[in-house]
Amino acid sequence: MTMVDRQGLASEPGAAVAAPAALPRHVAIIMDGNGRWAKQRGLPRIEGHRRGVDALRRTLRAAREIGIEIVTVYSFSSENWSRPATEVSALMGLLKRFIRNDLAELHEAGVRVRIAGDRDSLEPDIRLLLTEAEALTKANTRQTLIVAFNYGSRQEIAAAARALAAEVARGERTVDSITPEAIEARLATAGVPDPDLVIRTSGEMRLSNFLMWQSAYAELVFQPILWPDYGREALVEALAEYGRRERRYGGLGSVGA
Ligand code: FPP
Repeated sequence: MTMVDRQGLASEPGAAVAAPAALPRHVAIIMDGNGRWAKQRGLPRIEGHRRGVDALRRTLRAAREIGIEIVTVYSFSSENWSRPATEVSALMGLLKRFIRNDLAELHEAGVRVRIAGDRDSLEPDIRLLLTEAEALTKANTRQTLIVAFNYGSRQEIAAAARALAAEVARGERTVDSITPEAIEARLATAGVPDPDLVIRTSGEMRLSNFLMWQSAYAELVFQPILWPDYGREALVEALAEYGRRERRYGGLGSVGA
């Protein structure tokens, strides 16, 4: 058997230098456990989120060094508005600070920043920051970072359905032309390959309205570590677990051989 990695480098098993296990192109992360991390230390939940931003910075640096092409992070869900107002406003503040403090480093490193989620209900200053971050980095090609903020998968799919229904109503398309590709083209991730690997930290095992359409064939890796403790080592472990999985996309893979 010849093993081929993503760059198409081939090697025979037992060769002096083994080919590296396949790397996922797109890694999506549900950064969970900030509150529990803080509680374990008798700190306010917000401190857990602050340390969560440090973990995000570490993880993004490691992902760049490892050569992950696309990283999507779940930073604020459509359902997070139900948290206490102080926590919601702290999360908004952290997003602003993250963009202000980290955008220069991301831009310099060749990262294209995209935002997924509903911006209409965000404060105008945040909306402006997000638009500026996207505009500044739009020509970068080393890595794409998608920040899912005020994001929910059901809301995203419903918005795509509304847009397509409106086109049908205007006579611009037929009902039969509504295909998976037509829906995909109207999602926040349009044009971006689907996640190969979805990681969730803190031991919870669910998707929580995150990239549900896009994750149809993703490998899911659940790690017990709380998000503020995350970094290179935990990411490498998740990538190693991904490398051990066999992806079959509905086919038989090696079980049919
Ligand atoms: C889940 O932890 C985490 C969130 C709801 C927010 C994730 C946010 C960050 C990592 C920091 C913000 C980053 C940016 C870019 C704004 P939880 O509060 O649900 O933890 P718990 O389940 O232990 O209570």
